[in-house]
Formats: sequence, structure tokens, C-alpha cells
Amino acid sequence: MTQTTSAHHAGGTAAAPAAPARYDAVVRAAVGQGLLGESDPVAGFIDTEGVRASVGALHDAFAATPGVLHTFAAKACSLIPVLRLLADSGMGCEVASPGELRLALEAGFPASRIVLDSPAKTREEIRLALALGVAVNADSLAELRRIDALRNPSTSSVLGLRVNPQVGGGSIGPMSTATDTSKFGVALCDPGAREAIVEAFRARPWLTRLHAHVGSQGCPLELIAAGVARTYELAEEINAALGVRQITSLDIGGGLPVNFVDETVRPTYADYVAALTAAAPGLFSGRYALVTEFGRSLLAKNGFIGARVEYTKDAGGRRIALTHAGAQTATRTVLMPDAWPLRIGAFGPDGTPKDGPLLAQDIAGPCCFAGDVVAYGRELPELAEDDVVVLYDTGAYYFSTPWAYNSLPRPAVYGFRVAGPAGAVTFATVRGPQSLDSIAAESGLAHADALMERND
Ligand SMILES: Cc1ncc(COP(=O)(O)O)c(C=O)c1O
Repeated sequence: MTQTTSAHHAGGTAAAPAAPARYDAVVRAAVGQGLLGESDPVAGFIDTEGVRASVGALHDAFAATPGVLHTFAAKACSLIPVLRLLADSGMGCEVASPGELRLALEAGFPASRIVLDSPAKTREEIRLALALGVAVNADSLAELRRIDALRNPSTSSVLGLRVNPQVGGGSIGPMSTATDTSKFGVALCDPGAREAIVEAFRARPWLTRLHAHVGSQGCPLELIAAGVARTYELAEEINAALGVRQITSLDIGGGLPVNFVDETVRPTYADYVAALTAAAPGLFSGRYALVTEFGRSLLAKNGFIGARVEYTKDAGGRRIALTHAGAQTATRTVLMPDAWPLRIGAFGPDGTPKDGPLLAQDIAGPCCFAGDVVAYGRELPELAEDDVVVLYDTGAYYFSTPWAYNSLPRPAVYGFRVAGPAGAVTFATVRGPQSLDSIAAESGLAHADALMERND
């Protein structure tokens, strides 16, 4: 899917994409219960039943292929209660750092359902993963040589090699992992690479998995499918060359793009399976055990950010709403507004949706740099002090991945459920708001005098 840009950075106005009504009662309840207010002016919210439904849709789409290990890419929502919810829903976990591995273990994923990726694994990280029995996808032939030295033959870790099928990029350059020059995996089409990969497998009978992740946002399904098909063909070629079915599993990554323009979930996991079936008909035949690593497509539409409007002002003929949702919680949107447009909703101080004539407004954040704006010229009912704005589709890679700019606190995150005929909304704290004590501690408070010595 290609991104449609709904904000005009250069200064025009942008029609308001439809704000969904399905979370209106949740916004009202969040304000009513004081989760969003003067002292906590921004928070993230996760629809826990929605997450379970998305996991269900993923499993349903693959139902014809038994034994698929669906892992959740922890980077997309690195919060232990969310990871535990996903573990409970039948997911495994893909991790890409020692921190993510720790979170996955704390969340309760068994090591056998965790996969470690990352292009810069240290020896220590590899050693730990092998000791735990976590699957490891080597990102390069150099990393394979490290694993040669570190591997104990009794390890239960499944070991794989990541390739870059070099099928090209999508509409967002920095999100495109399968370009010719991407930093990820072994560049499959480079001169000599195919032969070197075959030899790497020949020399290592314990190397039984091929991995590719073609993504992410902005990559059309056909591109992802072409990358997976190339990886499948490579596995077939390696097994044929070795005369034994040494490769027994394929990790086909994640990367399903999300529709940020309206409520529709598209493409769906069923679309994904159909595209992969067309590109690589043997993929779902059961010849290989499959692993997936979806992140954004499972969480994005199941979360939103709520933030108070602190002030409004006019500058150079433009109306600006100064809110508490800025780069600290919507980093990608602020830094690349055309690539990551978000739908925004306007609510009154009591959390009820605003109506009235539309006015083009810049929705700015609290950070002290001029570009801290989540939407330019967005047409919304006129915002005023104490109103609330909602940034939709932000359940992945937004409030769960805050930026510490200006020492702004990490926003609180709440899970919610809507139940019963009256639609009662129940919240559960996933992460409390960061305290000023915690900010001071993270900023070297324990070492406050560390630089006081001088050369006299
Ligand atoms: C190796 C790997 N797998 C899976 C993912 C998840 O991608 P997405 O959230 O687009 O599904 C990523 C994202 O960066 C990744 O690098």
C-alpha cells in the first residue's frame, strides 16, 4: 500500500480524514476518570480486545498451514503487559536487542518461542541466546563465524541466516529493508553471494533456517511477496545443492503495511497470504515450518494517544494548537510528517467529540523545536484551551517508543476494555506516567558531582 499524505507541510490546509467514533466513549471515560487531565496531559491507550481480535485474524489467515509460529516484533510495542497479552493470545516474540529479550522473558514467552534478530549482536548477546535456547537469525556471514565459535552443540536454539532478497524499496526510504544497499542480511543478488550462502549452509549442518524481512510501512504487498518468494526459491536451491532437506523452516518476517487513512484494515492478513501464495505456491505446502514477525499490523489500529490542548495562538495567519502530543510520543510523524500522517480527532474538555465549523489548524507539540508539529493545516472543529486531541492508529511505534527530548516524561499507557450492554469502559495501567524523580535518576542524579573535579 502506498501512503496517502493528508498533511501539507508546506502550508496548505488538509481535509480532515474521518475520525472514528468507535473510541469516543473511551476518550470520555479517560477524561472522566482523570487519566487525562491537568497533571497528566498525554497518555497512550490500547484496545486489549482489539489486540486479541487482530491476533485471531492473523491465526485465521494461516489456519490452513499447521504449526506456524507467529511472533510479535517487540519493537512495535515494547511494554511487558502488552507482550504478556500477546503471549496469552498465542503469539511468540521477535526481539532485536538484549532489552527486548529481557522484556520477552519477563512477559512469559518461553525461550523456544522467541527469535533474536538484529544486525549488531554482540558475542555476549549471542552466547545468552544460545544458552537460553532462543532462535537466532544471523545477519551476516561474519556473524555466522562468531556463532561457529560460540555454539555449544547441545544448544536447542534454531539457527538461521537472514538474507536481503534485494527486491527494492517502498514509498518510505528509511523503512525499506530490501533495497540493493540495505544494511540488513546477506545481499542475495550481489556477485558471489548465492554461492557463498550455499557454502555457508554446507559447512554448517546445524544451520536450518532462512530469514528475510521485507518491509516495512510503505512496501506494497507484491514487493513483500516477491522478497519471500526469492527466499523460498533460495531454500529450495540450497536443499537441492546439499542433497538433503537441511533448511526446515523459513522465517518470512513481518512488514504488513497499515492503512493510516481511515478505519479499514487493509491489506488484511488474508490478502497477505493470498499474495504470498501467488508468488510462492509451495510456501504453504508444509515443506517448511513457517515463522512470521508482524508488529505494526497487529497493534497500530488498536491504540491511540490522547493529549490536552494547553493553549492556542495565531501566527502569520495560521492557527496553532499547542498540545502535549509532540515528538516525544509521535516521533516519526513529527520528523517525517509526509510519510507518517495521522488522523486526529477533536474533543472538548469533558472528552466529548467537538463539532462546529472546520478550521485549518497546526497541531503542535510541547517540544522546544519549531518542527514539533504532528499535523499542519488540519481542518478540525476549532480547538481551545483544555480541549483534547486524539491521534489515532498509534498503537505501534508511538507512545510505546517515546523520545526523551526536553526531558519530557514517558506518557502513561492504559489498556482498556468496553463491556456490557451499557458499554462500560474499564482501564488497566500498563505503565504509569514517568515521575520527575525518575527523569532525574535517568539523567545522572546519582553522579551529580561526577564532573566537578578540575585540572588546577
Ligand atoms: C527483523 C524485523 N522483523 C519484523 C519487524 C516488524 O515489522 P512490522 O512492524 O512492519 O510488521 C521488523 C521491523 O523493523 C524487523 O526489523
